[in-house]
Amino acid sequence: MVLRLHYNLEKLSMGLVVGIIVAGSIGGLVEIAPLFTIDGTVDVPADMRVQTPLELAGRAIYMREGCYACHSQMIRTLADEIDRYGPYSVTAESVWDHPMLWGSKRTGPDLARLGGKYSDDWHVLHLLDPRDVVPQSIMPAYPWLMRPLDPALIGPEMAVLASLGVPYSDDMIAHAAVDASAQARPDSAIAGDFADRYGDRPAQRAFDGDGGDLTEMDALVAYLQSLGTLTRIAWDDPAEEEGQ
Ligand code: HEC
Repeated sequence: MVLRLHYNLEKLSMGLVVGIIVAGSIGGLVEIAPLFTIDGTVDVPADMRVQTPLELAGRAIYMREGCYACHSQMIRTLADEIDRYGPYSVTAESVWDHPMLWGSKRTGPDLARLGGKYSDDWHVLHLLDPRDVVPQSIMPAYPWLMRPLDPALIGPEMAVLASLGVPYSDDMIAHAAVDASAQARPDSAIAGDFADRYGDRPAQRAFDGDGGDLTEMDALVAYLQSLGTLTRIAWDDPAEEEGQ
């Protein structure tokens, strides 16, 4: 009976078009409507910290180099994923991620809980040539990352993020370039200003192993070490404690 109806509909081209639009709209509404209430349903975790200018620059390099094409940043609620990667990802962790980098392709491992898993030195060696530390690796080498970081775009990017609701102050935006440099030079005169603006939670050190030039490697490693450390919400998620 239903098949018969569909068969007849297929012979009426305009009717079929209207039918497709109706069916498509229902699917669209189901997906889009919940997003209108997202501000009320997803709270910013109380312990959430913003990404620093250096980490943001690293995130931009992560996108530029296409790391997301092989790495996801979202742990699913499946036992084997949690065993391998850690607590599953919760929406609140991504409230300030524009664009989000959850990804779906995993040629390499998920990176959502990467921060603190390896030393900075390991990351530097691995990015310069993955096979130096993981002989069987098929990940490409990124030997050009030791070049100087151009901090010019970090401030404007922070201004855009601020307009999307990420709490960057005008002071943070104005000092983006110096703060990027200060985070990688803990002994410099400007290091204290960085700590005043971002607190003591973001790590301050020479991420590329060299306190000289501020490099793209500094930025990318700072970003990788920050993954999964901006909030503890996923560890404290009540749903997780109740075993749901
Ligand atoms: C062609 C796919 C591919 C691309 C592109 C790629 N990776 Fe990988 N990545 C892998 C594979 C496969 C592994 C596992 C082997 C290894 O550790 O090298 C891996 C491992 C890693 C690890 C170790 C993760 C862990 O938990 O052990 C990190 C960190 C990493 N990649 C970062 C990056 C970054 C940063 C970029 C971009 C600059 C990148 N990857 C681009 C495939 C890729």
